[in-house]
Amino acid sequence: MKAKTVYVGMSADLVHPGHLNILKRAAELGDVVVGLLTDEAIASYKRVPYMTFDQRKSVVESLKYVSRVVPQKTLDYVPNLEELKPDIVVHGDDWKTGVQRKTRQRVIDALAQWGGELVEVPYTKGISSTQLHGAMKEVGTTPDVRLKSLRRLLNAKDIVRFMDVHSGLSGLVTEKLVVDTPDGRREFDGMWASSLTDAVSRGKPDIEAVDVTSRITTLNDVLEVTTKPIIYDGDTGGRPEHFVFTVRTLERLGISAVIIEDKTGLKKNSLFGTEVEQTQDSIENFSHKIQLGKKAQATNDFMIIARIESLILGRGIDDAIERAEAFLSAGADGIMIHSREKSPDEVFEFCARYNKLPERKTLVAVPSSYNRVTEEELAEHGVNIVIYANQLLRSAYPAMMKTATSILTHHRSAEADADMLPIKEVLDLIPGTR
Ligand code: SPV
Ligand code: MG
Repeated sequence: MKAKTVYVGMSADLVHPGHLNILKRAAELGDVVVGLLTDEAIASYKRVPYMTFDQRKSVVESLKYVSRVVPQKTLDYVPNLEELKPDIVVHGDDWKTGVQRKTRQRVIDALAQWGGELVEVPYTKGISSTQLHGAMKEVGTTPDVRLKSLRRLLNAKDIVRFMDVHSGLSGLVTEKLVVDTPDGRREFDGMWASSLTDAVSRGKPDIEAVDVTSRITTLNDVLEVTTKPIIYDGDTGGRPEHFVFTVRTLERLGISAVIIEDKTGLKKNSLFGTEVEQTQDSIENFSHKIQLGKKAQATNDFMIIARIESLILGRGIDDAIERAEAFLSAGADGIMIHSREKSPDEVFEFCARYNKLPERKTLVAVPSSYNRVTEEELAEHGVNIVIYANQLLRSAYPAMMKTATSILTHHRSAEADADMLPIKEVLDLIPGTR
């Protein structure tokens, strides 16, 4: 009698005895085909895996229980099941509740079409990928792995979300926060080392007065307590001859990308627009800076992204597109288009034309003023990275002011207590405090 086909879907990033239990049971039932989730499928609901698809495939292929490995390109099993029509699907019984419930029901419905069967193996206690993932996060990461992780994320996801960091604590918020929503888990993909929020949290203006060495002190605080990729706000990049040193320093630290803006002279924050004097750099000069930066890079993975200020300075879409073409030709790995309009219309207009460029690469948007736009809308228009550039700092300041005002008003802190983190919780916030 022909052996039955048994299908097992898995990510197999951190293979542990729980996986082996499932595969062993599957092998008792027939020939095991593993549907190995692609990076894209995994990234649709959690971080990109530590190992690449090919690395994970080579591990799973060599397990004695496994006959064959095929890619599973979606979280949903149905496309692969309809193609392979397996007699049996084996899965851990932990998916009966929670976010995977719907995926499970779709597997049952698909199998019913050809009389297939779902076999569920009791969850192995004491070990899980989530637990191992937590342990790995505690160990940390290396500069090389962190640097590369942005390109891997961009390959795996339509859009990635980056959050303002300006201290170790804001880094921890961005690193750790996970929110369960009806359509799956959400977390930030990485961190934006903003020049505005770093300067403001030091009580300094955002005019490149905080020098690169000081900015790196902040970066080091963030690097020490996080593992996610970081994009560094490089302001104008400074003089081209100085920018090459910044590039090398950032690479050495494991920063994934720098974004430099096409302005020159005394830099002022973009959100002023034309209210203050700001000078845009010439295409020639800025292209030269990009070229020098690209030449200085030691790795292939580091990205230099050119930020175009034409819309901020009222120079229009034609100018922005001309610059995008020139900067991509100069070697930029992507473009950030900035706008301070309340509506995303001009950014979308730029996107439509940018998407048609033959050299089109990664596109970054910073919806600080046009804040009603959703990530889904940005993704539909081709934006690959959305940066929430300053929201953590902007929310911290009013909270501090409110507490300080309350204490001055009431001559004591009791009235402010309800707005504050309880003492016990602040003591337990950072691991190792006890
Ligand atoms: C920053 O966060 O420092 C930026 C974005 O450069 S903006 O403040 O909008 O110019
Ligand atoms: Mg800035």
